[in-house]
Amino acid sequence: MIVLNAKKFLYCAIDYKEIEEAERLLCIISHAIGGIKLGLEFFISNGINGVNRLKKFNLPIFLDLKLHDIPNTVSEAINAALIAKPDFISVHINGGTEMLKIISKKEETKIIGVSMLTSLDERDLVSLGINISIPDYVKRLVKLASECDLEGVVCSPNELKMLREIYPKDFVLITPGIRLENSKKNDDQKRISSPGDAIKNGSDILIIGRPITRSKDPLFAIQNIQDDIIKKSKR
Ligand code: C5P
Repeated sequence: MIVLNAKKFLYCAIDYKEIEEAERLLCIISHAIGGIKLGLEFFISNGINGVNRLKKFNLPIFLDLKLHDIPNTVSEAINAALIAKPDFISVHINGGTEMLKIISKKEETKIIGVSMLTSLDERDLVSLGINISIPDYVKRLVKLASECDLEGVVCSPNELKMLREIYPKDFVLITPGIRLENSKKNDDQKRISSPGDAIKNGSDILIIGRPITRSKDPLFAIQNIQDDIIKKSKR
């Protein structure tokens, strides 16, 4: 496999409360990334107007709201968020069948199901009373998402190979938990992989936040990520 355009896979998680900070970073990196991921930190502070303001960077927007509530509330929240016309909105798959069915298939926005957070591991599952393996748990959640017509899921890079064997190419697999092999492993992400391995194993979109946003030189950090993708795609 040869990846000619590594940047299109790369969505930067713009996890800032201050929109000016988000804009400052995007002015530097927008030409080097494939999309913007806006999560709760940004959205709670800046709302729909904030999302609209970042449209000037002309990049696809993944509005990572991780909605999880009763079906009517989630459905209305999505309708409210659709005003900003994001390319993707996320909901938690464990909101259940009824919640997923009521919201799936929107015209301009793909609804993406969050499976098991990349910050959780086997012990967390046990503490939640879930006594099956991570792959089995993720498989079960993703099957539910697919049966309810969601157009893709967020999963850890560790589950990519398994899911790519089951689901067709147009079922979008989005992966956070991306870290370069030589980076220090001292944050909350537990189920991680390198950018190049994630792309090789079938990820459509890499969500990368702190390795870029907390770098002294964000463009250099992006260059290293792209180099890793290109290097591993040639193997
Ligand atoms: O800073 P870091 O690269 O860990 O950022 C990952 C981003 O991906 C965060 O914004 C986080 O909310 C998001 N995310 C995640 N795990 C999921 C879904 C989204 O880490 N399962």
